[in-house]
Amino acid sequence: MKEIIILASGNGTNFEAICNYFSDPKKNVKVKLLITDNKKAFVIKRSQKVGIDCWVIDYHSCKSREEYNKKLFALLKSLDFDLIVLAGYMRILPDYIVKYYEKRIVNIHPSLLPNYKGLNAIERSFNNRESYGGITIHYVDEGVDTGEIIFQKNLKILKNWTLEKYEENIHKLEHQYYPQIIEKILKSISGI
Ligand code: GAR
Repeated sequence: MKEIIILASGNGTNFEAICNYFSDPKKNVKVKLLITDNKKAFVIKRSQKVGIDCWVIDYHSCKSREEYNKKLFALLKSLDFDLIVLAGYMRILPDYIVKYYEKRIVNIHPSLLPNYKGLNAIERSFNNRESYGGITIHYVDEGVDTGEIIFQKNLKILKNWTLEKYEENIHKLEHQYYPQIIEKILKSISGI
């Protein structure tokens, strides 16, 4: 049995897709815990719905970024798991956490990296009238959206699409591929 920890800050559709995928006991993967930095995040409600424990370290209740990161690191170190999965986690992990869990943290980003790193990637690529967008799954390194790319899938942006339609299609791809790629990574760590 492999175990994963998910970090998320917002809506949590990827979190829910991952939980649903691994709810099949034949997959032999347990979503051990959701950690969120945002006590108001909708992902907390989703965790209740799918029956996964949730731990809130509310960023805005911490005195500083350092204090928040210290709490996060202490929590992570108190747990056994195989992989940390970022799913709409909107904070930058400090170098010491990234180094400690080298090649054990993955992230999903809604663009074809290295294009559109950072925030609002869907909106920026749409507003730039790109003919293709897409998704990237990558290991997390010390930079922002710069880690080794594991998987990419492109998506043609049709001329008649609205931003909302484009966003909906990006999310569909994320929900389809992120769980599968996580499963592949876990299998490569050692057989499951
Ligand atoms: C997803 O589109 C994910 O790719 C993006 O946030 C969204 C979270 O949606 N992540 C980033 O932009 C990270 N830089 P969700 O909360 O519904 O899963």
